[in-house]
Amino acid sequence: MFIFINFVLLFVVVYGDCPQSVPACSAPVARLNDGHLMPRFGFGTWLGLDKYQLPVPVDGEAVQLAVLAAIDAGYRHIDTASIYDDEDQVGRAVNQKIADGAVKREDMFITTKTKNIRPYADIDYLETWRGMVEAKRLGLASSIGVCNFNLTQLRRLWDSHELKPAVLQVETNLNQQQPELRQFCHSRGVQVVGYTPFGSLFPDRAAPDAPPPRADDPQLLAIADRHNKTVPQVVLRYLFELGVTPIPKSVTKSRIEQNRDIFDFSLDEFDRQQLRSYHTGHRVVDLKIFSDANHYPF
Ligand SMILES: NC(=O)c1ccc[n+]([C@@H]2O[C@H](COP(=O)([O-])OP(=O)(O)OC[C@H]3O[C@@H](n4cnc5c(N)ncnc54)[C@H](OP(=O)(O)O)[C@@H]3O)[C@@H](O)[C@H]2O)c1
Ligand SMILES: *[C@@H]1O[C@H](CO)[C@@H](O)[C@H](O)[C@H]1NC(C)=O
Ligand SMILES: *[C@@H]1O[C@H](CO)[C@@H](O)[C@H](O)[C@H]1NC(C)=O
Repeated sequence: MFIFINFVLLFVVVYGDCPQSVPACSAPVARLNDGHLMPRFGFGTWLGLDKYQLPVPVDGEAVQLAVLAAIDAGYRHIDTASIYDDEDQVGRAVNQKIADGAVKREDMFITTKTKNIRPYADIDYLETWRGMVEAKRLGLASSIGVCNFNLTQLRRLWDSHELKPAVLQVETNLNQQQPELRQFCHSRGVQVVGYTPFGSLFPDRAAPDAPPPRADDPQLLAIADRHNKTVPQVVLRYLFELGVTPIPKSVTKSRIEQNRDIFDFSLDEFDRQQLRSYHTGHRVVDLKIFSDANHYPF
């Protein structure tokens, strides 16, 4: 069910001009290496796993309502995947906002993902990449990128094809700051999108062996207090300042708004030193159930 490994991202038709004068669009945008623009802050829509590690059922309209709230709060970049089983809800919310006149299609950057094809273990991702390139050539996607590739795989892809990924999406949070992948990508003009940006910050998501910090960590609270911000906002701002595009998920309106409100302050070197120190390499999403697959990346 959760085959995230080597998901190849397919950005289905992307983004147009979002005037900087419109407050809702105030998140900075990045120019991708294929010329398209991507808002540097996004919205996650995966409902996640329950306490038995089973997928939270995607029934009702929770995702649709969350995406409506996110667009109202100014998000213009939405992250989904075929495997989240919620692309229809994302689509309905975006269509509704377009019909209302709140946004234009070209203002919205929507990411979806396909897995590296069944039976997973038999397919070389370079072959999948050639299919993605064809999809882009046919105009089915504006931009294409990859997800959950490690450095070896990224280098191999890089050397194999003249069309390079526009984006790498990988887990990025305080415990997993991805220094090597960020360095590789940023030196080559590939944008890094950070999933699970809160990592193990909230106790209900923290595995028993997860390293600190939690959201009540005194050092984190001190940083947040100094900036009159919350700990989640400090974390998102830190990732943003690292050059990563965070895609926090929430189905809670107040949190959806809070998370987006990080563009009126900056961290200083003291903050950064503290925040950097939490990197241990720990992953929340380790995809262990695929650890015997050919291309298991971790
Ligand atoms: N490509 C991949 O392999 C992959 C893997 C994982 C995730 N992703 C993408 O990345 C997105 C984000 O990652 P994620 O969903 O794993 O984790 P996340 O965004 O780091 O954390 C989501 C959790 O944090 C809670 N939360 C959000 N804002 C909060 C706040 N301000 N204060 C307190 N709690 C808050 C949410 O609760 P409520 O919703 O109850 O408010 C939810 O339980 C996903 O939704 C998905 O789009 C991609
Ligand atoms: C602190 O933040 C809150 C919530 O965003 C805001 O209402 C308040 O005015 C801020 N206080 C100062 C001193 O900036
Ligand atoms: C990436 O994954 C491949 C396939 O599992 C593995 O052979 C390689 O050692 C990994 N590289 C890194 C840097 O983790």
